[in-house]
Amino acid sequence: MHGIEWHESNSVGVPSIDDQHKRLMALTNRLFLAIMDETGETALEGVLNDLADYAVYHFTHEEGLLRKYGYPEDLLAEHQAEHKALTDRVLHYIARYRDDPANLDLSVYVFLRDWTTEHMGRSDARYSEFLMAHHAK
Ligand SMILES: [Fe+2]
Repeated sequence: MHGIEWHESNSVGVPSIDDQHKRLMALTNRLFLAIMDETGETALEGVLNDLADYAVYHFTHEEGLLRKYGYPEDLLAEHQAEHKALTDRVLHYIARYRDDPANLDLSVYVFLRDWTTEHMGRSDARYSEFLMAHHAK
């Protein structure tokens, strides 16, 4: 199966965040399927909107936990900047898609897949011990 799969090694040790990461990956995989199905233009816009909404919801949750437990300001600011860059990028893709649906190809999926994997593996992994030490749920 083409797509990304959650593995135990992706766990940040915080159940709510792990669950949301799984959902984000599932949405990214749905995006892949929607792009491949060339007749599913409406579906594609729906998935993109779902992704944008869910990403914002998830980032707000993650940043809220980091703030609640006193994650160092500079690291939090850096992390937030990454979240914002992704959100802006997805909104940009949505705008481009509305402009011309033919604009959207698999590169959107590849970008999101790589971003998610990279961000989880590096930036999210960095706060993992911190949140676990605070028994964040
Ligand atoms: Fe994050």
